Amino acid sequence: MSFKIGIIGCGTIGNVHAKSAAAAGLTVGGTWDVLPERGRDLAGLHEGCESHPSIDVLLQSDVDAVAIGVPNNVHSDCAIAALDAGKHVLLEKPMAMSVAECDEILSARDRSGKVLQLGFVCRGLPAPVAAKRFIDAGRFGEIYHVKCSLYRRRGIPSLGGWFTDKSLSGGGPLIDLGVHVLDLAMHLTGNHEPVKASGHVVSKFGSPIKDYCFTDMWAGPPKLDGIFDVEDGAVALVRFANGMTLELNVTWAANLPEDVLPSGVTVMGTKAGCFFELFGNEVRIATEEEGMITDVSPQFAADDIKSESWSRQYAQFIGAVRDGVAPHASGEAGRNVQSLIEAIYESSEAGREVELNRAP
Ligand SMILES: NC(=O)c1ccc[n+]([C@@H]2O[C@H](COP(=O)([O-])OP(=O)(O)OC[C@H]3O[C@@H](n4cnc5c(N)ncnc54)[C@H](O)[C@@H]3O)[C@@H](O)[C@H]2O)c1
Repeated sequence: MSFKIGIIGCGTIGNVHAKSAAAAGLTVGGTWDVLPERGRDLAGLHEGCESHPSIDVLLQSDVDAVAIGVPNNVHSDCAIAALDAGKHVLLEKPMAMSVAECDEILSARDRSGKVLQLGFVCRGLPAPVAAKRFIDAGRFGEIYHVKCSLYRRRGIPSLGGWFTDKSLSGGGPLIDLGVHVLDLAMHLTGNHEPVKASGHVVSKFGSPIKDYCFTDMWAGPPKLDGIFDVEDGAVALVRFANGMTLELNVTWAANLPEDVLPSGVTVMGTKAGCFFELFGNEVRIATEEEGMITDVSPQFAADDIKSESWSRQYAQFIGAVRDGVAPHASGEAGRNVQSLIEAIYESSEAGREVELNRAP
């Protein structure tokens, strides 16, 4: 069964959604963006796709589902409107601006009975998929520490645009990139309950905007008269109820040689540990066999690593809508990550470790 999907927000990621949905066999049936030309441009790329004048008109149309790729401050309004209109929702990360907004989205999902899947697309990258197979097979023993990093040397997205305006984004790389690796770390290690978080965020490169050493950037060059009031780097240590710890490091900008601190995940277990680069094509597993230190490096062919993760994301969304399979990245997973983000910001502000309470 194929179905029709509408695209809410036709910027950078909205275009990736439309392309990936079409590649997965879905019909891209409608678009909407506050900038009408963006909706029209994207609709023009898909046969029979209509650009709508408002979100309400799109939601009254015959699309079965929507993919939402708008600035973070309107995630919850768009998701709730779509679910209340009876549409399945694939919602970009972060789930929302706060845990309270996540709870409102979860209530809308529950009253609609529709699918809500989060855009944690990194779960579908080949390296984490391979690592999870080894972990789920029990090959790592007890996992007691996980470290996740996503570094950019000069990669502040649309500096001066909505990404760097806290009222529209909710924060910098912690809420932008940190959500991906925090979700990945929790997903890989069994989704244990975080109980305490200690974090520190810094803002060293984005302001003043005119002094930023621009190389290239997601969503366009710096807007010199724009706002930058978010962090550009974050570190955190999270303690889990089962004794596991998680270490996080994310930057939008830092003075780092590119090859020294690769973006990736390290998992330490009593029987084995591993490291993989997020966009790499191998997992390096360190273990012991027959009383000897042994290294294992499963490798896999991946022609286009990013598009492989997008195909997986859409295959899972289609499975959830069509076959009623639980969505791979659920609304609860989105809320769990949001509660970590919120605690890390709170800890940074307070200058001390804070407690988490994950119960809705
Ligand atoms: N999964 C990923 O790897 C990934 C990558 C990038 C961005 N994202 C997420 O996707 C979302 C969009 O990011 P982007 O990079 O595409 O940004 P973008 O600025 O390129 O696109 C956002 C679009 O939303 C539109 N818009 C602005 N305000 C709106 C409003 N109030 N209502 C409706 N539409 C509005 C804009 O006109 C624009 O076309 C963000 O939540 C971001 O975190 C996810």
